[in-house]
Amino acid sequence: MSCHGLVRKQVGPGFAQIAERYRNDPAAPTQLASKIRNGSVGTWGRVIMPRQSRVTDPDAKALAEWVLSQPSPP
Ligand code: HEM
Repeated sequence: MSCHGLVRKQVGPGFAQIAERYRNDPAAPTQLASKIRNGSVGTWGRVIMPRQSRVTDPDAKALAEWVLSQPSPP
């Protein structure tokens, strides 16, 4: 939570901003689950999101779906 705000950018994008970006993308739950586990860079900028290797596959999927369920940023 020190890296992601619920709505606005902190170190990484806000969860509501992520949800907005992938609103109509049916591949997003699987893609984001994989990025949560493996890390990511270059999609939102040049800051690296480190891999979250202790997060299991099913937990990563649940987290991705939760992120994607956030309402549009006000
Ligand atoms: C379990 C914890 C975390 C979850 C569920 C999570 C979730 C996400 C998601 C869904 C994205 C979007 C990826 C995309 O659009 O392709 C993202 C990106 C990002 N996250 Fe996280 N994150 C977590 C932990 C962290 C931590 C600890 C940091 C900072 C140290 C961080 C920093 C970032 C950054 C900088 C990006 C943008 C990466 C890029 O541009 O490709 N995240 N995160």
